[in-house]
Formats: sequence, C-alpha cells, structure tokens
Amino acid sequence: MNQTGVRIAGVGHYVPKRVLTNSDLEQMFDTSDEWITTRTGMKERHIAAPDEPTSDVALGAARAALANAGLEPSAIGCIIVATVTPDYAFPATACIVGAKLGIQGVPGFDMEIACSGFIYGLTVASSMIRTGVFKRILLIGAEELSRLVNYDDRNTAVLFGDGAGAVVLEAAERDSYLGSELGADGTNPTDLYLPVGGTGALPITAEDIAAKRNTITMNGREVFRFAVTKMIAATTHALDSAGLTPNDITWVIPHQANKRIIEAAAKRLDIGPERVIINIERYGNTSAASIPIALSETAAAGKLKDGDVLLFVGFGGGLSWGAVAWRWSANGKNGTRA
Ligand code: UT7
Repeated sequence: MNQTGVRIAGVGHYVPKRVLTNSDLEQMFDTSDEWITTRTGMKERHIAAPDEPTSDVALGAARAALANAGLEPSAIGCIIVATVTPDYAFPATACIVGAKLGIQGVPGFDMEIACSGFIYGLTVASSMIRTGVFKRILLIGAEELSRLVNYDDRNTAVLFGDGAGAVVLEAAERDSYLGSELGADGTNPTDLYLPVGGTGALPITAEDIAAKRNTITMNGREVFRFAVTKMIAATTHALDSAGLTPNDITWVIPHQANKRIIEAAAKRLDIGPERVIINIERYGNTSAASIPIALSETAAAGKLKDGDVLLFVGFGGGLSWGAVAWRWSANGKNGTRA
C-alpha cells in the first residue's frame, strides 16, 4: 500500500449572520452577562436562520476552505462532515454538501461523535490519505446546536452556537500528522445527550415535546471535571505518540466549551496563555465546528508559520475525547496556499 504524508492545503469557516448576545439572553430568562462571562468566557454566539440547515453552513465553510486552497470542488475525492445536528437523521449531510458543491458521485459520510468530531475526523481522514485511499478530503465540522437548545433552561441555553469550519487535506511529501490519541467511554452517555429522538426512547411523544425532552441535557459539573482531566490526558498522550513535549507546541487549538476548562488544562500542562487559541467569546460552544473555526481564524490572522506544531484537542458527548499533534505546512501567504 502507498504510504504518503498529509497536509492541510486550505482552511475556512462560516457562521450564520444572526448574533445572540448575553444581553439578549438576559431578556429571555434569569441570567446575567456577568455570570455567563465569568463562568464560561462567552459573550456572543451565532444562530442559523430557520431556512438555513447545517448543510448550508457546512457549504459556506467548504467554499472558504477550497478558495483558501486555490482548488475547485472537483479536486475533492471524499467529503466528511462531523456533526450531531445533521439536516436529517439520514441521509448523511456530507452527501447533501457534495450535491450543493456540484460534485455528485464523490463519496461522503458523517461522523457523529459530538464535540470530539473534528479530532476523530482529522485522524480518520489523515489515515485515508496517508494510506493512499484518497488524495484529497474535505473535512468539515458543522453544527446548528441552537436547534437543540431549550431556551427555558439557563443551564444549557447560554452555551451553544451555530457555525462550521473546514479543512482541505491533501497528500504531501512532508507529513503534517505527528501523532494522535482518541478515547471514548459510554458508561454514562446521559451526562451529555439528547434524551429522545433515537432508538433509546422511541417514539417521541407529545409529552416529550411539551416537556422539551428533545433538547440538549447535560450534567454540567460532571462534564466540566471530565473535560479538564481528558484535555490534559489526551494532549499528553498525543504528544507522547509524536515524541514531543508541551514545550514543543507552538499553538494549542482546543475545543471551545468553556474558557475555564481551557485555562485550567493549559495551566496544568504548563502551557502559557500566549500559546492557546481562545475565541469562545464570539461563538460560544459550536461542538465539532469549534476547532476548525479557531484554526481558520488563526491562519487568517497570519499567526501560523511553516513548521509550527499545532495541538488540536477536543472532548464532549460520549463521553469522548481526542487530540492530534500536527506540523503546519505552509504553502504561501498566511501559512496557506496563496
Ligand atoms: O462541549 C461539550 C462539553 N461541555 C462542557 O465541557 C461543559 C462543561 N460544563 C461547564 O462548562 C459548566 O459546568 C457550566 C458552564 C455548564 C456551568 O458552570 P458551573 O460553574 O459548573 O455552574 P453550576 O452548574 O455549578 O451552577 C452554579 C449556579 C447554580 O445556582 P445555585 O444552585 O448555586 O443557586 C445554577 O443554577 O449557577 C446557576 N446557573 C446560572 N446562573 C445564571 C446556571 N446557569 C446559569 C445562568 N445564569 N445561565
């Protein structure tokens, strides 16, 4: 079997226009900008329009990543969408994105592993490129969690937002993939889940809908503890598998669930805040989209230099977690293709 390297040829993101601020939330239920800011770091999140499905935000990010790579959609050999908010329970949103890009016939599939979706997707897509199965893969993290939020539940309503980030991965001589760590433990899936709508609780009843059991339900404190622990462990293991230490990391690009989680883990890893990307104040938690959105903003800001070591790390529903150590391979302006 062929053995080649993989690199990110282009990256982009897209968020819906409508912005929901902390002061908007103050009008909706008993909360405050002060509580949300100090407990989460969030200020704003973007909310999709009613006629704007996940495939549309995914499409926006895909087009931006392709433009950044200087490629036409026809250059793509496979599409992967990481999402827990697909357009439909089936078919896969990746198939719909392919049609919207005008590349019918290109294989596509979704990965449903919640906030760890981009990390799992990056590992799977990199493996397929490194083993010669595909030359180029479009990997998109796309979510519309606002559709699953109960805006009467202040414990979760402030947290989530909509958006998408995408990368074009392609075969390369120099390998960007340095190492990774993936994990999952389904012992307590109900720590973070959607109670009804799957085969665990069928059919959805009128009472379920009246009681809003078709919305995100989370044991926040438990997930917080898990998130800090796993962010540290996954980072450490991914670095070990790459033969690196925290000192070697140029940028940590973490899942944006809570600023306090990121800061606590980074401190324990002895990684200074100047090396950690945080944009949670503008987007809230966008699940599988948060890491590629943060990567896209970091690249667009010209912060990435050839050879930089990036550490992507995510955690969430499953419960699941993962990290990937990645060497940035620049190919022109702003660290990506001109
Ligand atoms: O992306 C997937 C992974 N998700 C996560 O990693 C999220 C992990 N969890 C968290 O980020 C935090 O647990 C939350 C942000 C969800 C909650 O923060 P917390 O510091 O753990 O708060 P808490 O749940 O312990 O609640 C503390 C207090 C409670 O009041 P009492 O019982 O002490 O009187 C809550 O009712 O804060 C109250 N509270 C709020 N107050 C104002 C909860 N939500 C709000 C709110 N506004 N929106």
